Amino acid sequence: MNDFVFQNPVKLIFGKEQLQKLPTELANYGTKVLVVYGGGSIKRNGLYDEVMTLLNDNGMEVHELSGVEPNPRVSTARKGVEICKEQNIDVVLAVGGGSVIDCAKLIASAAKYDGDAWDFVSGKAYAKDALPIGTVLTLAATGSEMNAGSVITNEETLEKKGWGGPFNFPKFSILDPTYTLSVPKDQTIYGIVDIMSHVFEQYFNEATNTSVQDEMCEGVLRAVMEAGPKLVQDLENYDLRETILFAGTMGLNGFLQMGYNGDWATHDIEHTISAVYDIPHGGGLAILFPHWMRHNVKVNPARFARLAVNVFGVNPQGKSEEEIAFEGIDNLRTFWTSIGAPVKLSDYNIDGSKIELMADKAMANGPFGKFNNLEKDDVVAVLQASL
Ligand code: NZQ
Ligand code: ZN
Repeated sequence: MNDFVFQNPVKLIFGKEQLQKLPTELANYGTKVLVVYGGGSIKRNGLYDEVMTLLNDNGMEVHELSGVEPNPRVSTARKGVEICKEQNIDVVLAVGGGSVIDCAKLIASAAKYDGDAWDFVSGKAYAKDALPIGTVLTLAATGSEMNAGSVITNEETLEKKGWGGPFNFPKFSILDPTYTLSVPKDQTIYGIVDIMSHVFEQYFNEATNTSVQDEMCEGVLRAVMEAGPKLVQDLENYDLRETILFAGTMGLNGFLQMGYNGDWATHDIEHTISAVYDIPHGGGLAILFPHWMRHNVKVNPARFARLAVNVFGVNPQGKSEEEIAFEGIDNLRTFWTSIGAPVKLSDYNIDGSKIELMADKAMANGPFGKFNNLEKDDVVAVLQASL
């Protein structure tokens, strides 16, 4: 294993009717709350009214920032920062999916900073302080509710970048599967793909002697592959929502990555596609990941073969490691296609005209990916195979 230090301070509050704990949790941090949310799903499913009633009944002073976009924009975060500064906000409450939480994280740090919010995302500045953040999660996918990451789009420069730091950890996150029952089919599929992709990103690493972590990763993947297809056919099934919601948190809260570095190149390439074409993150991953895998089998065929046998049901009898690996990748492609995930960039009407631009953007900080360090030619090859 790699040496590691692990710390995750997020208080995870999981289960039915746990929203009732919201006022008590918030009261630890003050009374002036900025509620951050998206384009209106929380108004349609009743969560907005429940949150507002709880806050108002408990004497909180409520301010609001609505309209956080999927692929959240720095310009929206800037609006939230302004409210925090003008109103002397005590605590930021994100109510929504990963985009809302990621935006709230940037607002919370930039509210305690004199410069521009983008400085944290670009790496020009590091947060030295932040407002406390609480979250009520409504979509299983990113793990943002229990990690220190945030992914923000700069719509002017067509960049989408991840940034992080210790202040980004929410103080608490409330996860009631009930509020995910209204997630539409497409977003449910994207969430399943994103959760599985997070596990893959961590599973493909250069560490050795990681049998505990490997088994944990494979277990999460098998559970998601068992529940996911049933959920897509039965969107209001509480038990299936519960399984996927928990898997999303466990997929990217740091537990699987202890002793690993992870690769993360596929995420970097996907973020570039989303920056240029504004497509859903999980949709981009569903297209890219099998191609990243095929491109990299030779780096460590045994690793891919293990995944193929333990997760993708490949019978290894009489086959070489590479044959097993490629059969496993084909099975992943078939599985994602079977639940309705996109297959090719052309499914989003993306042609090859901006491949060079996307590859250049992806290469902005030099070669990337820890399992296999990708050069520009590799990125172009993966994108071209994805057309
Ligand atoms: O905006 P509203 O109206 O709320 O609608 C959202 C949005 O249209 C809707 N939705 C959310 N909860 C719902 C619901 N609709 C009905 N019922 C509900 N309960 O779903 C749409 C997508 O929401 P979004 O928050 O964008 O989805 P997700 O949670 O998948 O987040 C994606 C973003 O997270 C980033 C991605 O790059 C992308 O920008 N990521 C963040 C990570 C992190 N912070 O650790 C890691 C990930 O790898 C990822 O990169
Ligand atoms: Zn992701």
